[in-house]
Amino acid sequence: MSHRLDFPRGFRWGAATAAAQIEGAGREDGKGDSIWDALCRRPGAIADGSDIEVACDHYHRMPEDVALMRELGIGTYRFSVSWARVMPDGRAVNPAGLDFYSRLIDRLAEAGIRPWLTLYHWDLPERLQQAGGWVNRDTASLFADYAGAVYDRLGGRVPTWTTLNEPWCSSMLSYAAGEHAPGHADPVEAVAAVHHLLLAHGKAVEVLREKAARAGESPEIGLTLNFTVAHPADPSSEADRDAARRIDGLRNRLFTDPVFRGEYPEDVLQDMRSGAGADLARFVRPGDLELIGAPIDVLGVNFYNGEMVAGAAEASSSPAPDPLVRHDRFGFPHRSANIGSEWVRSVPRGLPRTDMGWEVEPDDLRQLLVRLHRDYTGPAGIPLVVTENGAAYADQPDAAGFVDDAAPDDSRTAYIRDHLAAVHRAIQEGADVDGYLVWSLLDNFEWALGYTKRFGIVHVDYETQERTPKASALWYRDVIAANAVTT
Ligand code: NOJ
Repeated sequence: MSHRLDFPRGFRWGAATAAAQIEGAGREDGKGDSIWDALCRRPGAIADGSDIEVACDHYHRMPEDVALMRELGIGTYRFSVSWARVMPDGRAVNPAGLDFYSRLIDRLAEAGIRPWLTLYHWDLPERLQQAGGWVNRDTASLFADYAGAVYDRLGGRVPTWTTLNEPWCSSMLSYAAGEHAPGHADPVEAVAAVHHLLLAHGKAVEVLREKAARAGESPEIGLTLNFTVAHPADPSSEADRDAARRIDGLRNRLFTDPVFRGEYPEDVLQDMRSGAGADLARFVRPGDLELIGAPIDVLGVNFYNGEMVAGAAEASSSPAPDPLVRHDRFGFPHRSANIGSEWVRSVPRGLPRTDMGWEVEPDDLRQLLVRLHRDYTGPAGIPLVVTENGAAYADQPDAAGFVDDAAPDDSRTAYIRDHLAAVHRAIQEGADVDGYLVWSLLDNFEWALGYTKRFGIVHVDYETQERTPKASALWYRDVIAANAVTT
């Protein structure tokens, strides 16, 4: 029996991308290097040895990409602005860089698509990294200047602004795990980066609010976090419950508590101090938490997978650790500098996995949304929007470039469908979820994994730059048109 699940009227449907992953034009019109341009030059840093000089060539093909979105019925398009394009040295404005986004926003307006602008999707200007990057507190103030410059040019035409995308990645994966740019492996740098990123968010919100108020505008302003749902392998085991607490703390509460409650979670600060000798509190100055905790209008939720974890003390009795996902004993990703002998172990649940090796469990998304609403956003009366959700699969395009991924049960279409059903259940359970943006519009540069993973609902042939909507895109178009998903 099939079920039609209707979404609330006005539910926002869309797709997301990020500058470094699609734009290319790495050196055009005055663009400076970002830390990802620099990382791509480091031998061995990117799985397939690729770079982002051309990527999806979106910088030149933007009108075609907007036309494609229109055909698919995309209502909201979430893109990011490249700080290094707009400010090549991180400080002085390059008007030609802003022109590109101005043209993009005009095109979107013509196509009836709402722009959703992310200011920071990981591509810090390399010049600022040379001065310490996010370890340097000054970067937070420079980010606020950058936010102001972007608002000066584009404000009024952009209804929704996200300060940061997934600060967990741009701190932990970048400064502790060594996987993302700048590729450092130092837990103390990572906790400094956490605080300075959040401070940058707070300072940018302040600047955007001031500028908007002066112009008589009231855009939505928020940030996007990436969450996990951590389940203890054995709920009756204290060690497993503690492992779940640690992972939930580092991935989720370390960010939501300061943003919504104006304080860092003490247990997480303690875990980081005792496990890694990384004392985040020493980077906090008076007034910082007030800024970080200032009200926002929307919380962006990026969700891909949850996980089951076990504590180290249970090592002999519980199932073997997941070889694909590891944490060190204080919950940092496995390649951090301080890998301990004891692990918080991620335990496979026997679920299907995407091409990323990530487990597929849509109900984790329902649980997450209900919990975020209950504990954080509901009391503040602010909506949640799923700003990213989607899946990489090893697509096999036919001779015409068409990816018919609708047939096998573990396909991208099934992934999106089942996660939308989970969003629908969360709404029925009272969570205020206002939209869903699929990751991603196009196949693109998957960071340290280069072009080896395809998340797009539109296939990109990197030789010819030809775009071909996949079966999942055609299916998604129908979902949008119906404002409903059929399971
Ligand atoms: C989240 C990031 O925001 C995005 O850039 C990335 O491609 C997806 N996750 C998939 O890993």
